[in-house]
Amino acid sequence: MVTKKLGKLIGIEITGLDTRIDLSENLKNEISDLLSEFSVVVIRNQNITNDQHIKFSEYFGNLELTKAGTDGSGSKLIILRNFDEEGNIVAPTDRQRLNNLANQEWHSDSSFKIIPSKLSILSAKKIPSKGGNTEFLSMRAVYNALPENLKLEIEDKVCWHDYSHGRSKIDANLVTREEKEALPPVKQKLVLNNKKYGKSLYLGAHCSSIDGMPKDESQNLLKKINLYTNNESFIYSHYWKPYDLIMWDNRAVLHRATPIQGKIEQRLMVRTTIAGETSTLNY
Ligand code: OGA
Ligand code: MN
Repeated sequence: MVTKKLGKLIGIEITGLDTRIDLSENLKNEISDLLSEFSVVVIRNQNITNDQHIKFSEYFGNLELTKAGTDGSGSKLIILRNFDEEGNIVAPTDRQRLNNLANQEWHSDSSFKIIPSKLSILSAKKIPSKGGNTEFLSMRAVYNALPENLKLEIEDKVCWHDYSHGRSKIDANLVTREEKEALPPVKQKLVLNNKKYGKSLYLGAHCSSIDGMPKDESQNLLKKINLYTNNESFIYSHYWKPYDLIMWDNRAVLHRATPIQGKIEQRLMVRTTIAGETSTLNY
């Protein structure tokens, strides 16, 4: 297994690893350590089946089941694609395209769940020739960039995360009544502390407000914090090669897709989502 750093602050590439093998405890720990330190781990050349993807993912924890209303619902996989069974690109108003659009906002997977995801594993099956990158933003770097008084101000804050908050900005009908009822807003800590690598901010598109603050004050504070996310050097932008497999730490980075450039070509990605062990409120 050979590693190479990718972004300035986050991202590391592994070559010479076959994720289809039975993973030894040592190798599993090595990968987990790389994830803790670099937040994003890219493993090249993994032409794996969905079952192999699931098996590899389960070395790192229990997998979330895909919720109703998402492609792959009821299984351990989420299918992200912009084309139908016949291979035709679906209309921009199709749920699948709208969900892809929602993925273009910075977010952390499942932050709208009481126990949110700790990591996600995404496999690229079909990629367009231009655009359709996945970008990662170091929320440790963002935290570190905050002025001391702002760090103090937000130290103990708790945010509300709501699935329908971000989604309804994309399209009022994107979140069904069933989804709304199944996914009521939840509270998450704003500042997470990794004992080894320090503090990070837990935010993203699902975050609707800060608990216990008047709405305008809460929006202003979130806006103020978000100004510090605007820094290229905190981002690793991944240009996909076929069969890249990426693992990321949902509690240390936010991620987003970038638009496909030019003619819309097929894009097919398959994801597993590893559940966290505890709510962020216990961090
Ligand atoms: C995801 C996601 C972004 C992309 O799978 O969780 O947000 O680039 N994907 O497809
Ligand atoms: Mn995502």
